[in-house]
Amino acid sequence: MSMEYLSQINEALNYIQSKTKVKPEIGIILGTGLGSLVNEIDVEQFIPYREIPHFPISTVETHDGKLILGQLGGKKVVAMQGRFHFYEGYSMKQITFPVRVMKKLGIHTLLISNAAGGMNPEFKRGDLMIITDHINLLGDNPLIGPNLDEFGPRFPDMSEPYSNKLISLAEKVASDNSIKTQKGVFVAVSGPNLETKAEYRFLRNIGADVVGMSTVPENIVAVHCGLKVFGMSVITDECFPDTLQPVNVQEIIQTAKNTEPKLTLIMKNVIENI
Ligand code: HPA
Repeated sequence: MSMEYLSQINEALNYIQSKTKVKPEIGIILGTGLGSLVNEIDVEQFIPYREIPHFPISTVETHDGKLILGQLGGKKVVAMQGRFHFYEGYSMKQITFPVRVMKKLGIHTLLISNAAGGMNPEFKRGDLMIITDHINLLGDNPLIGPNLDEFGPRFPDMSEPYSNKLISLAEKVASDNSIKTQKGVFVAVSGPNLETKAEYRFLRNIGADVVGMSTVPENIVAVHCGLKVFGMSVITDECFPDTLQPVNVQEIIQTAKNTEPKLTLIMKNVIENI
């Protein structure tokens, strides 16, 4: 099983390397409504997911599924336009397959964005949050099963899942550009339904500032294989149990779109200064 998974990773890697000479050092995974950072990339090659052996194919309409290779902020990058969610029915191994392929392509750093619901009462719709830590409530873990020793240890340390250096860098970039950012803890749930009031109250009480349906599987696999990770959430809705309003997914996507220019600027400047 793990031998087969390893050979699938290598087949995907070989296919990508047969299509491009770009040797990326930074990987980027873009969240719902947040794909426009790729417009800043000097694209050298894009590859639809469906062409890459063993790559999952995204089923969420708001995502275009392709891998983009090129230059951004003076660095060679590989960006995933479209990501995979647990609620789509993919296994944790499928969701995180591209992270391992990107590791083998040569990246040392992974940047991740997502849309999330804000539970910290100080947070407003449209705020940006730098992720400092996370809680995994997905009920599954991508590292379950035989350990892939060539990627990392059986029991990976999670004392710094998001790089403190990159967090400081992003804070500096944000303040230099007069962009307000929040900092906090992301909790991942499976979805696809949004949370009940009781669940938001619970998630807030266990120490989370925002809630979303992505990012944590990719982070775990990235940390396992020694990548530095930086993550940011766009707060797309306010999840305060006592005043909770019905949420509209179109509104979530619109809020992500409206906030995207600030996120893009921070990500681009972080890449430039890595
Ligand atoms: N819950 C879970 N995921 C989300 C939310 C939310 O309220 N908003 C955006 N993604």
